[in-house]
Amino acid sequence: MSKRFLAVLGATVLALGLTACGGEGAGGGGDTSAEKPADLTIGVAMPTQTSERWIADGNSVKQKLEAKGYKVDLQYAGDDIPTQSQQVDQMITQGADVLIIAAIDGTALSGQLQAAADAKIPVIAYDRLIRESPNVDFYVSFDNYKVGVAQATALLVGLGLQNKDGSKGTAKGPFNIELFAGSLDDNNAHFFFDGAMDTLKPFIDDKSLRVKSGQTSIEQVAILRWQQETAQKRMEDLLTSSYNDGTKVQGVLSPYDGLSRGIITALQNAGYGGSGAKMPVVTGQDAEIASVKLINDGVQHSTIFKDTRLLAEQAVIAAEAFLQEKEPQANDTKTYDNGVKVVPSNLLPVQTVYKDDIKPVLVDSGYWTAEEVASGQAKG
Ligand code: BGC
Repeated sequence: MSKRFLAVLGATVLALGLTACGGEGAGGGGDTSAEKPADLTIGVAMPTQTSERWIADGNSVKQKLEAKGYKVDLQYAGDDIPTQSQQVDQMITQGADVLIIAAIDGTALSGQLQAAADAKIPVIAYDRLIRESPNVDFYVSFDNYKVGVAQATALLVGLGLQNKDGSKGTAKGPFNIELFAGSLDDNNAHFFFDGAMDTLKPFIDDKSLRVKSGQTSIEQVAILRWQQETAQKRMEDLLTSSYNDGTKVQGVLSPYDGLSRGIITALQNAGYGGSGAKMPVVTGQDAEIASVKLINDGVQHSTIFKDTRLLAEQAVIAAEAFLQEKEPQANDTKTYDNGVKVVPSNLLPVQTVYKDDIKPVLVDSGYWTAEEVASGQAKG
């Protein structure tokens, strides 16, 4: 049982006129700075195990914390909001000393975060900002706007409208494209889409790109919970509604590899990538192994690599700072307004991966092995 937990009990202890163990509890300060790691527990709440990236995130955070001697309570919520709320509630009542949370719905945890604040448990939002709560103490993520810029840029490069160095490409278009966005309840989805649309807009305006379906608002193109099947269904519907006159779709902005695979399946079922029509330029994100294989095989065009090992490390550094009663170091104190306050953030850079980058970026860094890339399956 940690001192922070004892601090939660402090009021009771004081009411009984007893001295709290270890001098802790009076005032409920929950000072953990003198505690041994083995007496401290970090609650880690992750959204889902259906996407590799969250499995890698959870494992990395757990391993890194355990290597430092901390106890870790790692929970996955199967993308179910009540389950995640319950898991966080339980972490609090079981005496977590810090919470690291990758939220499913960024606005659904206010009650839990209030309970955490009352118990003086610092909360670190992991990759996804938790919104509409004053009780988010720190945010670790990537530069999410730049993810969107990079995705749109990869689309432009694939179509030949732009070169990798940012110079104008030789292609003229017009090209037919379709747009996809992530889950509206995920703050990141908005950043990705904004970054992408700011990048694509000049090309839509000068008509070198045409969104044939006319669906260009995030509400029209969002995919709830980032579900692959929903993306596949939407792509099928788009092909039926907007491309049944023989015109072909040439590019698809996809914000996440799972969606990209659904989109690619819909396109393949409609004959794209076979003798009928060229596979459109399809973007992605997360460097999931199944998609890395598709990129290697020339089916998917690109992904955005976000090194979850580095993100995990940042989360651990922030957690340790809080445990030592210090403020973690932020590199951004302006961008992430959660509706109540601007949350100090540490943002990591991202990297576009085209086929040629798989070896230098993903294999040589040990993120995936060459065998995993060839098979499209993680060895685990
Ligand atoms: C993450 C992305 C991920 C998506 C779906 C977002 O919040 O930033 O990396 O692709 O969720 O899991």
